Amino acid sequence: MSVHSLRGFRDLLPADARLFASIEAAARETFALYGYQELRIPTIELKELFVKSTGDTTDIVEKEMYAFTDGGGREVAVRPEGTPGVVRAYIENNLGQTGRNGKYFYIGNMFRAERPQAGRFREFEQIGAEHIGNASPHADAETITMLVRLLEKVGVSGCSVVLNSLGCGECRKTYREVLLAFLRSRAEKLCEPCRGRIERNPLRALDCKLDGPALAETAPKLTLCPACAEHFSRTQELLKISGVKHEVNPSLVRGLDYYTRTVFEVRSSALGSQDAVCGGGRYDDLVKSMGGPAAPAVGWAVGVDRMAMLLQDKTAADNSPEAFVVAASKDAGNKAFELTTALRNFPGGPISADFSSFELSLKSQMRSADKSGASFALIIGEDELKAGTVTIKPLKEKGDQFTVPVADAPSRLKQLLKD
Ligand code: HAM
Repeated sequence: MSVHSLRGFRDLLPADARLFASIEAAARETFALYGYQELRIPTIELKELFVKSTGDTTDIVEKEMYAFTDGGGREVAVRPEGTPGVVRAYIENNLGQTGRNGKYFYIGNMFRAERPQAGRFREFEQIGAEHIGNASPHADAETITMLVRLLEKVGVSGCSVVLNSLGCGECRKTYREVLLAFLRSRAEKLCEPCRGRIERNPLRALDCKLDGPALAETAPKLTLCPACAEHFSRTQELLKISGVKHEVNPSLVRGLDYYTRTVFEVRSSALGSQDAVCGGGRYDDLVKSMGGPAAPAVGWAVGVDRMAMLLQDKTAADNSPEAFVVAASKDAGNKAFELTTALRNFPGGPISADFSSFELSLKSQMRSADKSGASFALIIGEDELKAGTVTIKPLKEKGDQFTVPVADAPSRLKQLLKD
């Protein structure tokens, strides 16, 4: 048997894993600034949750979900996105009654059986934010501003924010009929899946990867009711106040069913055909429709894989140790092991330390020290063992090696690392 990963699934080797971790750290700092709390939701949920929220006419639910019947005969699915799980958790745990702002973030892997291509994987990471229980345009503007701030903090540049409003159920009722008549009149020109679902959800055709772009040009446009129009113009006004540049694109409909009013995407032409780095919007009816309280909400999810692709500087801080400990014999090895422990436990501040194998030759251990990226090698040879000392050798910068008593090594090293 040849061992290999599945198509669309990949390993993140240490350099990529470091980059992802640094993006996650930037996100955590940003969320703290805006009062968001972390929510960890399960990877697998009842399939019905996604069918009812993401929507049964979406590509995600119709053809991209990893769904199966579990041992107990339940129809379950591996999460293709985080919003349904957050909404379920909000309802199930009565989070609306905690008296706190319903601002939650999550970081986790999502799974969609899409055709893999550059920037599109079957397992990918999302960082998501959901603000539940706030209907005001301030929440829309705040969440988009936070997103732009996160992208800037991470170092993702050259993106544009695209905005639209899909209106509320009321504005869409009339629009649905107009759009349906338009789509019916050209049904024979539509792709098979669109023909199959226009009666159930005509809006989906506008988001179709095949038909969408041409239809968006010619299809009748949605007219917002006065309340939705005001919400949309206030959102844009507030974005101006927070300094977020954006463009309105009436063709932006998004590929998930729960959206109402504001929808947005952050795009970058550097990503090629998969140009969305982030997508989000308002979903004022979802919590209630899933059996919860009337809780309007707005949120987004950013693709970490795509963010990483857009970074100019892909070098995140390495986990190289500060010190690499080397020993010349078995006895010296025990002393060196004790020293490694003392460095990591140093009361003046832990010093990161590593070693290879104290049973290898001194030469081989020194080669590992050089490769480790450590700033100093700490060597206990036969002479040092007898004298109770250790030799400190700079590895990165020029400088002479010198010998100190073992007990003094951590504090001397700390001083050297500060200089
Ligand atoms: P989405 O647009 O489906 O929205 O996904 C958000 C982001 O996830 C995309 O912009 C992209 O960066 C990333 N992404 C999606 N699919 C893939 C893939 N196959 N490979 C790599 N990256 C991918 C949502 O998921 C909504 N839950 C966002 C939301 C939150 N709306 C309101 N709250």
